[in-house]
Amino acid sequence: MENSKFNRYTITAALPYANGPLHIGHLAGCYIPSDIYVRYLRSLGKEVAYVCGSDEHGVAITIKAKKEGITPQEVVNRYHEQMKKSFVDFGISFNHYSRTSSKVHHETASGLFRNLFEKGEFLEQSTEQYFDEEAGQFLADRYIEGTCPKCGNENAYGDQCEKCGSSLSPTDLINPKSKLSGNTPVLKETKHWFLDLARYTDFLKNWILVEHQNDWKNNVLGQCRSWLEAGDGLQARSMTRDMDWGIPVPVEGAEGKVLYVWFDAPIGYISSTKEWAAEKGIDWEPYWKSKDTKLVHFIGKDNIVFHCIIFPAILKTHGEFILPDNVPANEFLNLEGDKISTSRNWAVWLHEYLEEFPDKQDVLRYVLTANAPETKDNDFTWKDYQSRNNSELVAIFGNFVNRAVVLTHKFFDGKVPQLGALNDIDKDAIETLKAFPDKIAASIERYRFREALSYVMDFARLGNKYLADTEPWKTIKDDKGRTGTILNIALNIAANLAIVAEPFLPFTAAKIYGMFNMEGLGWKDAGNSDILETGISINPAALLFDKIEDHVVEAQVNKLMESKKQNELANAVAAPMKDMITYDDFAKLDMRVVKVLSAEPMPKSKKLLRLTVETGLGVKTVLSGVAEHFKPEDLIGKQVTMLINLAPRKMMGVDSEGMILMAEDRDGRLRLLQPNEHTGNGSTIS
Ligand code: 2FM
Ligand code: ZN
Repeated sequence: MENSKFNRYTITAALPYANGPLHIGHLAGCYIPSDIYVRYLRSLGKEVAYVCGSDEHGVAITIKAKKEGITPQEVVNRYHEQMKKSFVDFGISFNHYSRTSSKVHHETASGLFRNLFEKGEFLEQSTEQYFDEEAGQFLADRYIEGTCPKCGNENAYGDQCEKCGSSLSPTDLINPKSKLSGNTPVLKETKHWFLDLARYTDFLKNWILVEHQNDWKNNVLGQCRSWLEAGDGLQARSMTRDMDWGIPVPVEGAEGKVLYVWFDAPIGYISSTKEWAAEKGIDWEPYWKSKDTKLVHFIGKDNIVFHCIIFPAILKTHGEFILPDNVPANEFLNLEGDKISTSRNWAVWLHEYLEEFPDKQDVLRYVLTANAPETKDNDFTWKDYQSRNNSELVAIFGNFVNRAVVLTHKFFDGKVPQLGALNDIDKDAIETLKAFPDKIAASIERYRFREALSYVMDFARLGNKYLADTEPWKTIKDDKGRTGTILNIALNIAANLAIVAEPFLPFTAAKIYGMFNMEGLGWKDAGNSDILETGISINPAALLFDKIEDHVVEAQVNKLMESKKQNELANAVAAPMKDMITYDDFAKLDMRVVKVLSAEPMPKSKKLLRLTVETGLGVKTVLSGVAEHFKPEDLIGKQVTMLINLAPRKMMGVDSEGMILMAEDRDGRLRLLQPNEHTGNGSTIS
């Protein structure tokens, strides 16, 4: 169990950018793992500060604001509240959720910068950076687009080419353009304050690659190694930016400059702790400055360098702060085989999920943990979600608890029956029950939450198997005492299951606690086979999980596909314009509103329908190539538009006397062109 070297815990989860709603990738990346860890620590009775907040600075926010034509402040106000609510809704149990626009944070981040500045830790350097003369401002990397020198992609960003994955700097781009004005930016000199990371190389190498070689995850060590052992070493990083959104650089001569978002964001953990401690009336400092505090940063893999190299270098330089004991970063979660993307709307948004599955927070928590991207990128599919719900949560976990409770009500009036003589099968079950909590705890403490959850499910399986092997529904016929013993053990397995499942499935655990009137129990109680005492009453069975039908998940997949299609359509280029014509050319076309009288498939043709239409000038026959888009009954009786003076054309032995006009979507889908209200057949179109 968690060693006693530590007296308190500061657990952080990456501050999400306040530029969009949260999706399942966020939950799987760091919020569910950190919440499991924290709930486990609290269950052990440990003192924990679990802090987070909205990351409200940086270019991600200003780009979003520009796109929507609103101010950065309006962007962050909108998403801060929404994200905060999603966390609460999914049981992510932060002690405090702050935001980096808060006064405390501005003061804390400025204070740290000044501390380093006064120690002379920054290199002041003037460099040439791209400047947009029309907009009158220096351009952040993301505000510059150009051709990637590596793959020729014309839409590469100043810091990265999303097509070939190369990381770039703005001056690498061929034909750079400012995203603000579209103009070619010019290089202009500007002064910034750099952290000389190379000076920390030896310390970082020893601290990460030697001291933590055995307890940090391989994916984290691997990335750190590639930074620390790169041929040209660690490069100095500018901790300031030319922008007007952020925390002003608190030194003279820095007007118009703000702190680099990656300087201020991690300090947000400290600010959040300060706010929490102030509300509680306790001292925040031990949580960040005492050697007996364990600091753990939960993040996604794109944040590794900032949490393992840059932030520790800042804390170390300051001198008073502890460093993280671990940085268990997860890899990425994909969705139905494709990268989750906010801009392409390829995501399962948490607020939308809850609208459709209002009581299934734990199902999502379960699936995202069972399939967590702990060691490699993983894929979320709705099929897997359904199958894990139906064949694991319903069939194993829910089924076991339900049977134990229902049978107790049926045979013992809802009172925990007495334990009688034990036979081997009972003794085995009790022995296994004793061993489970430590096994689960050992995995949690190594940040192996998938493995830990699989042990929780094994425990539920044990309960199921115990009931199947002992068959209390049969023993009741001639041995009520034996049946009581079985149910006593089964109920105690269920009570233990609630304790060890709580970090993973808090909503479900609360329901079981409610059924058993369990209060104030924690991990120290797990492993006991007499949590529920003989004679106490239990409540009727509450529904823990229910089956999810095929049509429910199919609807979710369709929703995703539809949003992908809409997105592709929005980004698709419209068909090019045809050659110019004169008004006289146009005037030759005789287009009318007509009514479809009959429609029938043409024998031997997949594409053609044979229509008769009332044109106001008499009935005409038209062969129309719409059979793959419309059924005859979609057309009969409808008013549509038609070119009626097209010279007749014989097709498959039938004279077609005109052409029905349709709108063709960029994906080739056809739609009827109809008057917005009924009009006379033969009305002209001009
Ligand atoms: O990647 C991100 O979403 C960043 N906003 C994470 C910041 S983590 C910490 F530094 F605050
Ligand atoms: Zn490229």
